[in-house]
Amino acid sequence: MASGAFAEAGADLELVGIQKRFPGFTAIEHLDLSIPAGSFFALLGPSGCGKTTTLRLVAGLEEPTAGSILIGGADVTQQKAFQRPVNTVFQSYALFPHMTVLENVAFGLRRRKIADPVGKAHEALRLVELDHLAARKPQQLSGGQQQRVALARAIVNKPALLLLDEPLGALDLKLRRQMQLELKTIQEEVGLTFLHVTHDQEEAMTMADTIAVMNKGRIEQMGAPEPALRELPKTAFVANFLGQSNLFTGPVVGSTSTSITVDIAGHRVLVPADRAHRHAGEVTIGVRPEKMWLHRKAPVEAADRNVMGPGRVIDVSFSGVSTQYLVAVPYIGTLIVFAQNMAFGPVADVGDEVWLDWHVEHGFGLEDEPVPGAGPRFAADTDTRSIAAQRRESLVTELEEA
Ligand SMILES: Nc1ncnc2c1ncn2[C@@H]1O[C@H](COP(=O)(O)OP(=O)(O)O)[C@@H](O)[C@H]1O
Ligand SMILES: [Mg+2]
Repeated sequence: MASGAFAEAGADLELVGIQKRFPGFTAIEHLDLSIPAGSFFALLGPSGCGKTTTLRLVAGLEEPTAGSILIGGADVTQQKAFQRPVNTVFQSYALFPHMTVLENVAFGLRRRKIADPVGKAHEALRLVELDHLAARKPQQLSGGQQQRVALARAIVNKPALLLLDEPLGALDLKLRRQMQLELKTIQEEVGLTFLHVTHDQEEAMTMADTIAVMNKGRIEQMGAPEPALRELPKTAFVANFLGQSNLFTGPVVGSTSTSITVDIAGHRVLVPADRAHRHAGEVTIGVRPEKMWLHRKAPVEAADRNVMGPGRVIDVSFSGVSTQYLVAVPYIGTLIVFAQNMAFGPVADVGDEVWLDWHVEHGFGLEDEPVPGAGPRFAADTDTRSIAAQRRESLVTELEEA
């Protein structure tokens, strides 16, 4: 793909103390965000958390209630949408049906009386590898191709900042994955700043250099997809929104320079001190399901492993390469374990008594204040509840009756 004249530098984006209130509803509480020029930045969060509102503020389609927006160091808060060096690609890519692909891309340039609109449109189409279809009408293209035309139409304006609002939402899974890789390649080639909004964590992980996880109008955590966000989630929301986690709450009952010991319903669990945000009092700690091991016999105690159990397998489900086990452990709750599928079939069946363990080094401790009275198995709120988060009492009762 040629970049040529389109390889114009991107610009920094800075949001400072942004708040957005709609009549009767605060969509954004307080947002500080700094996106370096030339980066691929993803804003990731569930539906309704304020992603589109954030983009509309940056694009100048909404006015912030408080705060300021800087693009390339210049304060654009008071600028009208058309004055900002920003282009947006929305989920529904409305192309003009009566115009050819080429004319769709050249349209904005013509209207703004930019020199050589046709040459520039061809160059943008070459970038998205669609120049050979320049003479077609949009309805003669597939969904993915139409989306690439929409992208070419945005890039042709050489925006310092490209805003993408769930632009792949209308595509089927295979096309989505393909377009994710293409978008990433295009961004690297043109060097523009991309602010990509999505509710799909896999999409964000695939494409972004940096991800900001947004929840209820706030950014909960920001960082590189790996290792920061996956390895060391700060909040229960992040721990369950990017993949799943087993979370537990209990008091810190001991600490050394290298680890803390937490009492989880009578189980002593160690977490490396440098992976725990809080070192005293009630804390919430966690471990990823893929880091846990299932055993049919009580594992021999070892200083570098945490053990829980015995518990009982209450569900086994295969999903291609791995098997997911739900294990109910009395007084703790239901834990989720992913095990790689070996040649031998399941390690355990429903009803089996099992123990779980994991390497101390794989645990993490959250910054979140534990919810008082929530019990040792920390249940995330309803929006983010993992499949494993269950009602503890009913399971304990169930086990006792079994
Ligand atoms: N014009 C508006 N008036 C009132 N509430 C709005 C308006 N636009 C968005 N909202 C509310 O703000 C919240 C965030 O919306 P939005 O930014 O579209 O979320 P997302 O894109 O993350 O799904 C939602 O609860 C939505 O209903
Ligand atoms: Mg939205």
